[in-house]
Amino acid sequence: MKPITCIDDLQDEHKRRVPRMFYDYVDSGSWSESTYRGNQSAFNRHKFKQRVMVDMDNRSLKTTMLGEEVTMPTALAPVGLTGMQWVNGEIQAAIAAEKFGVPFCLSTMSICSIEDVAEAVSKPFWFQLYMMKDRDFIRRLIERAKAAGCSALVLTADLQIMGQRHKDIRNGLSVPPKITMSSLLNIAMHPAWCLRMLGSKRHSFGNVVGHASGVERLTTLAQWSAEQLDPTLTWDDVKWVKDLWQGPLIIKGIMCEEDAVLATASGADAIVISNHGGRQLDGAPATLDVLPGIAEAIAGKVEIWMDGGIRSGQDMFKALALGADATLIGRAYQYGLGANGETGVTRCLELLANELDLTMAFCGLKDINTVTERVIL
Ligand code: GLV
Repeated sequence: MKPITCIDDLQDEHKRRVPRMFYDYVDSGSWSESTYRGNQSAFNRHKFKQRVMVDMDNRSLKTTMLGEEVTMPTALAPVGLTGMQWVNGEIQAAIAAEKFGVPFCLSTMSICSIEDVAEAVSKPFWFQLYMMKDRDFIRRLIERAKAAGCSALVLTADLQIMGQRHKDIRNGLSVPPKITMSSLLNIAMHPAWCLRMLGSKRHSFGNVVGHASGVERLTTLAQWSAEQLDPTLTWDDVKWVKDLWQGPLIIKGIMCEEDAVLATASGADAIVISNHGGRQLDGAPATLDVLPGIAEAIAGKVEIWMDGGIRSGQDMFKALALGADATLIGRAYQYGLGANGETGVTRCLELLANELDLTMAFCGLKDINTVTERVIL
């Protein structure tokens, strides 16, 4: 493998090592992908104010997210199908996150189940919830997350309906799946991935199979989740979730000040400014562009995190400067995972931490908790 010096290198390796349909699932946005691309390009519009001759010794990236100590202000975002990028991918990523000292959030649509991950790690992780029509299944899912000791629930608010991703349709990763001959051939061209996958029985949605009636195989399961997404979801349902969960609640998918205020009023302990990585409403603004307005409207009442387009520590630093208390990374760590499992995720975190640390120093700061808008010109 060539030296891995940045997230783009991990992306190249991910693309090389993982069958196209699963790589494309990560590297895609909805429709024209303008919001997906826009999330990344928004960072380029902001420039740093460099400072010199400042004592830059003894720097620290340590902070807290909802009271949990973290070695840098970021968490691994929930991503569906993570276990198809690398065998037992959710377990590998959770272990890497735990060793590094950042939170890991497991997706409802993961391959490894809540219980699988709980068995593999020693510290609590977070669980992401999609509200489905089958409220009895959701109630049991929340109970399972509690029983597994999950320390926060991340309620995704922006997937009541699903944006169209052209690549997923072309690759047969549609609902229900249509595995085309070309996808099959492409899978066969990745023998190392196939061999690793044969080492695990986990190839389906682990949180759902065996827990929801009439769902046994991936086809029916995909159909089930498409049918189950709940277009009737409203803020009233958040109360139902909060009462059941009774722990820290994070609402993810906020893109405007009105919804940020409603989420806060509904009892969110933190909100995630997110357009689902540009996978839902194509034409929505970049998350970085709506961040300052939302931060002003919320005025510190709850923690504000953001995701979307973060590919470097410089991007993370800009998000913090423009009002985020912390960030979530999705694709960046997926690239690491697809490149080299747990080792790749660790490499991703090391790269980001190093970039964040040096950027902070160049801007004349030593403590990540002291970042303000003043570092931006
Ligand atoms: C689901 O969350 C997806 O973006 O595919």
